[in-house]
Amino acid sequence: MDCSEAIKTRRSIREYSSRPVSQEHLDRVLEAARLAPSATNRQPWRFVLLTDPEIKKSLSGAVPQRFVLEAPALFVCCLDRRAYTGNMVRKRMDELIQAGAISRESAGYIYNRKMPENASEVALPAAAYIDLGIAVQNMVIQATALGLGSCWVRLFNPQQFHEILKLPPEIEVVALLPLGYPEQSPPPRPRLRREDIMLEIGL
Ligand SMILES: Cc1cc2nc3c(=O)[nH]c(=O)nc-3n(C[C@H](O)[C@H](O)[C@H](O)COP(=O)(O)O)c2cc1C
Repeated sequence: MDCSEAIKTRRSIREYSSRPVSQEHLDRVLEAARLAPSATNRQPWRFVLLTDPEIKKSLSGAVPQRFVLEAPALFVCCLDRRAYTGNMVRKRMDELIQAGAISRESAGYIYNRKMPENASEVALPAAAYIDLGIAVQNMVIQATALGLGSCWVRLFNPQQFHEILKLPPEIEVVALLPLGYPEQSPPPRPRLRREDIMLEIGL
């Protein structure tokens, strides 16, 4: 399936077969996240993969929609504050300079910014959520191309997930991505028209 086909045929899937997702498919979905672009290549995304029914059951009080935990695989999509400490940002910049992607002069602009060295002082910037969104959508499109269904989920309690999964304080839980072989094939959902999403400029 090519990219346009995957974009066109993707749906939010809320009913999955109990068939486990193959390791190869899980690897390819995670790889799609790993390869995503991010602001100054910070790659702030982190994931927990849950397949164990007992662990998923322990989270049932934190998710109102049952299909989410019934999916055979569930990626818990997180951000890592450590990606925004001065030390890590400079490391990523050095890699980019080394790779010839940016010049030392433009890197200087970021190098000279005041950045916290302690992750507990990091306030996650809007760019972090954009970056995670790109990575997760890459996963969604890759999943579609592999014949898997998925659904973005934000209707859940991230603090409870954080607590129950005993994640470190630097990690913020942002979204869930259930994955499985689809047991439904819904028609396209309504969308705005092209003219509705184009703005007139004020000139
Ligand atoms: C950031 C985000 C959060 C979402 N959260 C939920 C959710 O918590 N539960 C749910 O059933 N669907 C959720 N959705 C799916 C949307 O409802 C869905 O994308 C939209 O209705 C369009 O349908 P389609 O994805 O099938 O085209 C979410 C989608 C996005 C992008």
